[in-house]
Amino acid sequence: MPRKKIKNLQAPRGTYDILPENQIYWDKIRRVVKELGEDYGFLRIDTPIIEDTDLFIRGTGQTTDIVQKQMYSFKTLGGDSLTLRPEGTPGVIRAYIENGMINLLHPLKFYYFGPMFRYEHPQAGRYRQFYQFGFETIGGQEPVLDVQLIQLFLHILRDLGLKKINVQINSLGCPECRPAFRRALVDYYRSRKNKLCPNCQKRLKINPLRLLDCKEEKCQPVKASAPMSLDYLCSQCHNHFKSVLEFLDELEIPYFLNHQLVRGLDYYTKTVFEVWPESNQGPAENQDTKEPISLGGGGRYDNLVKRLGGKPTPAAGFAAGIERIISLIKQQGMKIPSKSNPKVFLVQLGELGQRKSMKLFEELHKAEIKVAESISKPSIKSQLKIADKIGVRFSLIVGQQEALDRSVIIRDMQSGVQETVPRDKVVKELKKRLSKK
Ligand code: HAM
Repeated sequence: MPRKKIKNLQAPRGTYDILPENQIYWDKIRRVVKELGEDYGFLRIDTPIIEDTDLFIRGTGQTTDIVQKQMYSFKTLGGDSLTLRPEGTPGVIRAYIENGMINLLHPLKFYYFGPMFRYEHPQAGRYRQFYQFGFETIGGQEPVLDVQLIQLFLHILRDLGLKKINVQINSLGCPECRPAFRRALVDYYRSRKNKLCPNCQKRLKINPLRLLDCKEEKCQPVKASAPMSLDYLCSQCHNHFKSVLEFLDELEIPYFLNHQLVRGLDYYTKTVFEVWPESNQGPAENQDTKEPISLGGGGRYDNLVKRLGGKPTPAAGFAAGIERIISLIKQQGMKIPSKSNPKVFLVQLGELGQRKSMKLFEELHKAEIKVAESISKPSIKSQLKIADKIGVRFSLIVGQQEALDRSVIIRDMQSGVQETVPRDKVVKELKKRLSKK
């Protein structure tokens, strides 16, 4: 009978495995985010990976690329429409409203770390399942809070050892002043419609701010002279932004005023920012798309809480892409020290030896002596070979005889000298030997 060919199973397009050898990067980022985040007064929050589809339509915004074409949405058996979260902010705000946190002392500061899902065209630095860490400050409108987020983001990157990073910043105004800017933008672009790519022709109708985000060669000359949001800010937004820039100056944080920075999400008001790595020629670019790489971005979103059904509450935040940060760490040749290797290897022989050595393993662990073992291997030779490969200083050998005598052999791996010590003295003896250089 002809055998059916089984399709090779692979991770879905745009997803990948985080293999053990890469976990040191993840551990390090998790550690730095937690430690620094908590030093800056942020508390961890975890929200579900699935949420009501409506949350993102109302939160992220109906006209955004995310909602238009990137969401993994599905109907449950019960008939609800759920979506794998494409970003973290709407979920955090929903949790804030739903859990009645309005009654707590503000501003509230949260951080999160986890997977996000966007149905994007996979390429270097762009995945369909990717990871972000993010920070949100809810219930404060002061410019200093925007700056604190930028300061924290840079601090995290610095502690991860990254260099050559720059801040891109802009202000998008508020519902008072944005319409005038939007009108000016539409008027300007409408009269140049035939010079635009098909995508921008669509953007002109549904989301004119995104015209400034276009990377198509054809649209660049038009974009270069387009109206700038800063020229249309009302006095409140103007003063807010001025104050943000003054704080940055005070902190000696260099920034680039980027008039074309509009961000791809609908909820932003006032400050928006991104953090880009630099190459020698300017902003580092994605090899395939020639777009600048953004390690992360965010801004102020004073109307989102209200839009999602809460009381009017100003807020600001940012999120960073962990894959992109890891890729930069590797590119900049940074070494993250791996955890120290075990200094001791446990060798066992025979069933009795195996049983006794499991007990000994626990005892050594309790005494904070890091031990390696290969408990399933029967031969002493193969176990010692592994011990050698790991580079431990001592092997502890528990054979049938030692198990009966209540003793253990300590083998110095460098000299090969072996000594039998009573079982109840072994931990103490080992500690003594390990403390000697
Ligand atoms: P975002 O700009 O959409 O903002 O995403 C933030 C970062 O996530 C990006 O700068 C990038 O590093 C990473 N990222 C986004 N999409 C992908 C992808 N497909 N593959 C790999 N990395 C990706 C937000 O998500 C907002 N929630 C940020 C925010 C928080 N604003 C206010 N609070």
